[in-house]
Amino acid sequence: VTIHDQQLHRGAGGELHQIAEDGADVLTTSQGGPIADDQNSLRIGARGPLLMDDFHFREKIFHFDHERIPERVVHARGYGAHGFFETYESLSDVTRADIFQRAGEKTPVFVRFSTVAGNKGSADLARDVRGFAVKFYTQEGNWDLVGNNIPVFFIQDAIKFPDLVHAAKQEPDRAFPQAQTAHDNFWDFISLTPESMHMVMWIMSDRTIPRSFRFMEGFGVHTFRFVNDKDESTFVKFHWKPKLGLQSVAWNEAVKINGADPDFHRRDLWQAIQSGNFPEWELSVQLFDQEFADNWDFDVLDPTKIIPEELLPVKPIGRLVLDRMPDNFFAETEQVAFMTHNVPPGIDFSNDPLLQGRNFSYLDTQLKRLGGPNFTHLPINAPKCPFHNFQQDGHMAMRNPVGRVNYQPNSFGEGPRQAPSRGYRHFLAEENGQKVRLRPESFGDHYSQARQFFLSQTPPEQRHIAMALTFELSKVETVAIRERMISHLLNIDETLATTVAQKLGIQTMPKPADAAMPTRQDLEPSPALSIVQG
Ligand code: HEM
Repeated sequence: VTIHDQQLHRGAGGELHQIAEDGADVLTTSQGGPIADDQNSLRIGARGPLLMDDFHFREKIFHFDHERIPERVVHARGYGAHGFFETYESLSDVTRADIFQRAGEKTPVFVRFSTVAGNKGSADLARDVRGFAVKFYTQEGNWDLVGNNIPVFFIQDAIKFPDLVHAAKQEPDRAFPQAQTAHDNFWDFISLTPESMHMVMWIMSDRTIPRSFRFMEGFGVHTFRFVNDKDESTFVKFHWKPKLGLQSVAWNEAVKINGADPDFHRRDLWQAIQSGNFPEWELSVQLFDQEFADNWDFDVLDPTKIIPEELLPVKPIGRLVLDRMPDNFFAETEQVAFMTHNVPPGIDFSNDPLLQGRNFSYLDTQLKRLGGPNFTHLPINAPKCPFHNFQQDGHMAMRNPVGRVNYQPNSFGEGPRQAPSRGYRHFLAEENGQKVRLRPESFGDHYSQARQFFLSQTPPEQRHIAMALTFELSKVETVAIRERMISHLLNIDETLATTVAQKLGIQTMPKPADAAMPTRQDLEPSPALSIVQG
């Protein structure tokens, strides 16, 4: 038996494996070199200095030093799983999206649930929005439906997103609070942003902190478009409904759970899926046409509004089942890159200014977070349908064009071709107007739906909203901010406003906030001088 025979073992398929003395795979360097000793650095003598010759030591430490990538700028803490989506019936009358053509068709998906404000290591049960991001690996490319568990958003225009997030996350001088809305900066921004009031009601309500991801709803938030083969558009809003029903925890429960097990939501999903108890959601849609949009009380492009289900029924169109945990958290859950602009033919955008801003932001942020333009080559991000293009090179290129031709048109008859009839066609929306920085008046009512939401809650739920607001605002040191919030609450519900004001010890009720929204809000100076420390 030669040394060569001991090191190499011929596998069943005739391939060569390196095997260790005990029959296991040999530990190797990244270059495939077999390692004899992984416990001791190379040195001169037993007590002498280490040697630069030790390429194994250097490679091992180098790789470890580079293990961390930037966490997501928002939604840093998340947990994902694989599964499938099953279409209930053909929707070919409203959309040409391949995923919705055939009843019973199953499409693989990856879903990532998340909190928004906390860092990667923060606790699961924060009072925060939850992300509900779904990547459908359809036969015509990936569709990312990147939603939240609340159907409305804080702001109406993406240009305000950096300010919202700065205000919500830890304050820059003290670096806390890490994952709580209860602080001056957050409530300062909110109290200066009347459009956030509807979402604030949801965030302060019992619907916010899920019992687990399995009991959580999801929403696409924006109005999207379905487009059919005849290039006709139908507006669509997406809803996820958990089969187990919606269940939340109250704040006192959340505080205890966070202390005892900050991984509570992660553990729940892991245990459910590992034990074969697969969570399930229904995807439903609200469909409407231009006439409905023109006649509705609010603007369908305003992401701070819902279209009530009584007015426009929610129609189930398929189900989502999560049945497999990732093999590796980093490779899949951390490296998955959701982007709102990932839409297949038959799904298109509306002019919601929040959605259109997002369509820029996600690609940009993935480039930074995942370190270059080739993050789509990672298995979790790559389409599962055939895909071909002439993109090449860049850091970590793993799929360069094969052969001579890397451009089109070309006369060598090589490579993929554009497909005018099958490829993505944008909806032929007609647009014209001046270039302006202007919020439409139709975006101007910030209180009616906040009030409707509050009044739709049962008395105990209304009490919880009052308690949540009292707790949150009691952590705000600046009295003027507390009062400004009360002035908004007065426009939502007077009893709610007076209850919270009394509990906060506010003696004189402020005037209700000006309910007529200035459409050029952004140009007004902020009321910095009126803030008095107290
Ligand atoms: C991440 C939802 C608004 C920028 C996310 C994620 C979700 C989400 C679910 C996490 C994705 C994941 O699990 O990897 C939403 C919803 C919004 C909204 C529902 C409003 C309706 C915005 C806006 C912007 C933005 C207006 C910027 C203009 C980002 C960025 C990330 C992110 C930069 C990090 C992405 C990453 O690094 O993977 N968002 N978002 N979002 N969102 Fe949003």
